Amino acid sequence: MLNGGLPAGRPYIVTGPPGSGKSILGTHFLLEGMRNGEACMLVALDEPPSEIKTNMATFGWNLDALTTVDATPDIKSHKKKNVIDVGTALDVRGMDQVTDVRKSMQLRTQEVTIHSVQKMIKQSARDLRERVAGGHFSRILIDSMTALKRFSLKSEDARILVQSFLRFLSELEVTTLIVSNPLTPERLDSEFLLSRGEILTHKWIDGNAVRRAISIEWMRGTAFDERVRPMTIGRNGITVFPSTRKVGGETGQAEAALLRGVVALNRKRFEEAVRHLITAKTRLTEEMRLHDVARRAGGKDA
Ligand SMILES: Nc1ncnc2c1ncn2[C@@H]1O[C@H](COP(=O)(O)OP(=O)(O)OP(=O)(O)O)[C@@H](O)[C@H]1O
Ligand SMILES: [Mg+2]
Repeated sequence: MLNGGLPAGRPYIVTGPPGSGKSILGTHFLLEGMRNGEACMLVALDEPPSEIKTNMATFGWNLDALTTVDATPDIKSHKKKNVIDVGTALDVRGMDQVTDVRKSMQLRTQEVTIHSVQKMIKQSARDLRERVAGGHFSRILIDSMTALKRFSLKSEDARILVQSFLRFLSELEVTTLIVSNPLTPERLDSEFLLSRGEILTHKWIDGNAVRRAISIEWMRGTAFDERVRPMTIGRNGITVFPSTRKVGGETGQAEAALLRGVVALNRKRFEEAVRHLITAKTRLTEEMRLHDVARRAGGKDA
């Protein structure tokens, strides 16, 4: 899809509806890095590392070499207060050390803010450099920016904090995947403006089956394939299929254009939405015509 992969050392956004595969995709990205012997880091804000570890083990993925920053809300304070915004805490550990849900008493903890997460990443990068000469993190997954902002922001400094966080990540020269779902679709969050590309994961219901797909919305500094690719989450994790299906088969081009239209509509980019929807209609008409031709030819043979 990405001729030659993501240009390294830059931040990218992964966005899509719940359950569309953002976290699994991001973890896959880390796993690839670890398989190449790269140092990788997970900043976990949505799901505790212990759960991620267990879930990913079902795909046969071993994440022990991963450095994790656990910034998930503390279960206890969560229960007591019934809110997530305060009482959250951070700690850094190797995934091999992760066993159960962290208790905040176990470690010196810090409140989760963009600033403290940034400090933790900086500190871990320094620790790694001291441990291994020339050691540096080459991949980071932040899952998710939406949660990080929910924990840490009280309105108007948001933009500046996010901007400086993204600048910090670019300066570290680490390839970062930032999972983000804008809370208000009509407003473009700063991380979208400052990243170097955007990967979309799609999920929709087709009859009684859940279907998934992946596409690249835009990407700076590299050629990329604009098609929407069918994707499945199976026993071995994510599989992306190289091409759209044949007429009368699986995801047609019409469906792909329709998906893009829906994405544009959600973002209130109306002109673009209309363009995609017109494409969808044209393709659909063409697919139906071909289908009809094929059916008639089939009928003659019988
Ligand atoms: N072992 C597995 N085998 C098959 N499918 C799985 C497996 N584990 C998870 N899934 C599917 O993957 C989906 C979750 O993917 P993922 O957690 O990456 O979504 P997400 O986009 O990060 O969602 P959210 O926005 O809620 O964080 C689930 O809906 C589930 O159907
Ligand atoms: Mg997720």
